[in-house]
Parts: sequence; C-alpha cells; structure tokens
Amino acid sequence: MKKIVITGGLGYIGTELCKIYSGYSWNDKITVIDNRFISERVNQLRNWNMNFVQGDILDKELINKYCKDADIVHHLAGITDVPRVKSESSSEKDDLINKVAVEGTQNILDAISNNCKIIMPSSHVVYEGLETIKKDINENEKTYPVLSYGKSKAINEDQLKKSGKNYIILRLGSVYGYSTDTARIDIMANFFAKTASQNGTLRLFAGGKQIKSLVPLIDVARCFKFMEEKKDINKELFNLTKDTVTVKQVAEICKKYNPKINLRETNDEIPNLGFSLSNKKILKTGFKFLYNLDESIKEMIFKWSKLKITRDLEHVRKGEKEFIDLRGKISNHELPEPINLIGLIDSKKGNSSRKSLSPHTRTKVFGH
Ligand SMILES: NC(=O)c1ccc[n+]([C@@H]2O[C@H](COP(=O)([O-])OP(=O)(O)OC[C@H]3O[C@@H](n4cnc5c(N)ncnc54)[C@H](O)[C@@H]3O)[C@@H](O)[C@H]2O)c1
Repeated sequence: MKKIVITGGLGYIGTELCKIYSGYSWNDKITVIDNRFISERVNQLRNWNMNFVQGDILDKELINKYCKDADIVHHLAGITDVPRVKSESSSEKDDLINKVAVEGTQNILDAISNNCKIIMPSSHVVYEGLETIKKDINENEKTYPVLSYGKSKAINEDQLKKSGKNYIILRLGSVYGYSTDTARIDIMANFFAKTASQNGTLRLFAGGKQIKSLVPLIDVARCFKFMEEKKDINKELFNLTKDTVTVKQVAEICKKYNPKINLRETNDEIPNLGFSLSNKKILKTGFKFLYNLDESIKEMIFKWSKLKITRDLEHVRKGEKEFIDLRGKISNHELPEPINLIGLIDSKKGNSSRKSLSPHTRTKVFGH
C-alpha cells in the first residue's frame, strides 16, 4: 500500500488527479490537504475512500504529520488568483503569493523522507520576462520571471533541485479544459470558451498575436500519475505543453463553434509577445497526450451553452377515460411510443409519494 498526499486537491488540477486516484484509493492510502472546504467535493473524496484534511501548507506541524511517511506527494497547493500584469500587483498580494509558495513548499520538503517522491507543477510564466519571441524553449534555458507568481515558481524549482529529495518538476503551459471547478475560468482558453458560450465578445489584446503554450487539463493530471509510477525517472524537470498557438487562433476555434461571437482586436497591455516551450523531453519518456484544444473548446462551449431540449418524448395528448374515485383522480396520457413493461407500485396506506416524469430518463410510472 502506497501513501499518497495531494496538496491543493480541491483545485482545478487536483480535482482531475483525484478522479484518476479514485480507481486506486481502495489499495493506496490517499490524503488530500486543502485549506478550502467544498462540501460536495469533500463528500466525493470520502465516497472514494480518500482522507480529506482541511489545512494549510503553512502549518508546519500539520504538514509534518501527514507528509513524514508519505511515499508520494503531489504538491498542487498554491495561490493562483494572481496579478498577470504589473499594474495589477500590490506588495501585500505579492508577499502572500511568495510566502505560500516558498514557505509552504519548504515545509513539505522538510517533512518528507528521502524515499518520498515529490511531484510539483511549475509554470511557463517563469519566462514572462523574455523580450523577444522565443519558440521551443528547452528545460535548460535560463528563467526570466518578473511578477510574484513567476518569481515564486522559479524559487520553487531551485528549492526542489537543492533539496536532495527525489523530485519531478512539471513546467506546465496554460492549462485548458472543462471542469466543475469554477476557479480557473480565468485561464485564457477557458475564459474564451466561456465567453463564446454566452455569445459574448472576445477581446484580443495587442491583436491576439501573443503566442502561448497550452496543455489539456486531463493530460496534466495523467502526467502526475505517470510520474508517480515511473520509478526510473527522478530528479528531473520537464516542460509539459502540447499546443503552441496564438491567442487569435484560440479565438478563431471559439468562433468556429459559435459563429455568433465577435472578435475585437485591442491595444491593451500584454506582458510579452509570447514564447513557447518544447515538449521533446516529456515525449521521450513515453508519455502520450490524449486530448486536444479543438475538442476541449467545443466541449466547454457545448456544456456552458443553452441546451436545446427535445420535447418529442413528452406526452403529446391528454387521453380519455380518467379514473376517478374517493382517493382522487388518475389522468391518462397518450405517450409517443409503445409501452412494453408496466411496473406495479403497491403503495402503503397513508404513505403518499410523487414521481416526476422526465422526458430525458424516459421513466414511466403507473400508480394505483
Ligand atoms: N492551471 C494552470 O494553468 C497552471 C499552470 C501552471 C502551473 N499551475 C500550478 O498548478 C498548481 C495547481 O493549479 P490549479 O490550476 O489546480 O489551481 P487552483 O487554484 O484551482 O488549486 C490550488 C488549490 O490549492 C489550495 N490552496 C491554496 N493555498 C493553500 C494553502 N496555503 N494551503 C493549502 N491549500 C491551499 C486552494 O484552495 C486550491 O484548491 C498551482 O501550483 C499552480 O500554480 C497551474
């Protein structure tokens, strides 16, 4: 039995990772630590036989208690509601982002044993300071962070490399994909798909010419699991990106699936002209991407758009010969299809119940 800790397990990526582990949690001991408490998600984790601890990674004692004998730590906890451009920054916000990232990660590194493998995301934003467009950046390229989030990710990379512990760093592109989590709708591809689902206008800062490396959500979660299983891959950093596209190309995919939307090019501030990360190293490990941008955007727009409900399955006409006695009335409806099974419900005296007929489930109930 492996002991696996997932910090930040209630988040966007953590939720997907927990879904994957729900197939393993009857053999392995899975503990999710998050400082939020989302009732529905916690209940789901409990039903999957996972342990949930509401706690903060800044709480050294708590982290020590749960991480000291862990075999694997997927360290996803961190502040992600962060300034994207200088004008949004404040020293208060920056200090907190830095504290949670650096102190929180150090608490975990101090707690885990030398046999434990820690798998942690970094981010493509460690290159946000690049002034000229650069493509296919490999893992050894010097980082250029500017804002607090990028800086804290670069510090985290160094912390892991210097820790002497067994680590994997996955430098993620911008993650996209449908999720029931609401927090990461701010990510560009998700935000565009959401706006498109509402027939809105997509504003393309600096004409949408910025290039970006993106990666599908479920593939990110799969890669964390993949790295947990690969005993021969240790003390390594990988770029984890799949598609390299311009912001305008993402908007055009949205327009393909909802032609009603408008694309408006603007001159707003962008942090850089863009860059892309090479995924050659991760592909060499045998890891395969299974999802793609076009399908994911289509799925998000579809799931967030107004649904066309098929009314054909509802009753079409009120029938004749209603049954009436002291107890009330049973009306009689003509259905649009032949009935081949009738279930008999023997209700107990004094026990009243109501069953609604849904056109989707095609349930048919005859009371007596
Ligand atoms: N989503 C992306 O595009 C992307 C890209 C690169 C890197 N990452 C990194 O991946 C990780 C997970 O990202 P996500 O998109 O799932 O973000 P998220 O915000 O959805 O999830 C982070 C989770 O961490 C929890 N958390 C925050 N501070 C905590 C603390 N002090 N103690 C305990 N829990 C805390 C939050 O409650 C949240 O559930 C983050 O480190 C993020 O920086 C994400």
